[in-house]
Amino acid sequence: MSRKIAVITGAAGGMGRAIARALSQSGHDIVGLDVNEAGLAELGALLDPQAEFQPLTCDLTDASAIENAFAAIDQRFGAVDVLVNNAGTCFMSDFPNIPASEFDLQMSINFSSAFHCCQQAVQRMLKRDGVKKIINISSNGAYNFDVFDPPHYRASKAALDNLTKDLARRFARDKISVNSIAPAMTETPLFNVLTAEVLNKAISAMPHGRAMQPQEVAAWVAFLASPAGDIASGNVIILNQGRDVR
Ligand SMILES: NC(=O)c1ccc[n+]([C@@H]2O[C@H](COP(=O)([O-])OP(=O)(O)OC[C@H]3O[C@@H](n4cnc5c(N)ncnc54)[C@H](O)[C@@H]3O)[C@@H](O)[C@H]2O)c1
Repeated sequence: MSRKIAVITGAAGGMGRAIARALSQSGHDIVGLDVNEAGLAELGALLDPQAEFQPLTCDLTDASAIENAFAAIDQRFGAVDVLVNNAGTCFMSDFPNIPASEFDLQMSINFSSAFHCCQQAVQRMLKRDGVKKIINISSNGAYNFDVFDPPHYRASKAALDNLTKDLARRFARDKISVNSIAPAMTETPLFNVLTAEVLNKAISAMPHGRAMQPQEVAAWVAFLASPAGDIASGNVIILNQGRDVR
């Protein structure tokens, strides 16, 4: 079977690296998009040696840079089968003292980037056979109001999950399956935005007594990208060790 082409945003980060590795091991060639050029350069060595790898340095807050990146993917691979919208960050200013520029950047990195990547990817997926996959990395913080997440972070992920549902309905008959994965505390460099006090409190609230690991989340992404995921669309899958079942 020929390999599929998976585009992963934020591929140089903690979750992105694990997702790229998992998808490379399950028959995908990998396109990694990230603003972190050095991080992307390290990623190649972590991937399955059979996978082709195209690193593309790109600021995802710039819609025209996204358009250029997908044009480069056309040249290298000529197709997109899987898009994982994983790039994101969490700005920690608290309401109401959130500068307008921080609000705009939060929405741009976490939501607009995914919106524009979907615009580019869907056009290409419509030309592919089989079930194509869009997997949006949301956050448990959009649903659990007991944890620390500031409102602009929550809102960016809630918007992302709304996009998931819209595109799932819109493109169901075109066999584009769209799902969100919403993890809780996962040990990545993003932990550095938290004070030691907030981090320790949040980890101690995890039922298994530990943070989740990026490869544990990546395994769910690989499951959705696999044939087993073909019949799932429009879901927000919460991964949190059962922390806040309601
Ligand atoms: N770590 C957690 O506990 C956790 C929990 C819930 C959700 N998430 C989500 O998981 C996703 C991955 O986060 P992570 O934990 O791996 O963090 P991370 O900081 O390790 O990785 C994020 C990556 O996104 C990239 N990025 C940021 N802004 C960018 C831009 N403008 N253009 C291109 N790339 C950009 C960064 O360079 C980095 O490589 C994020 O969407 C985050 O909101 C993380």
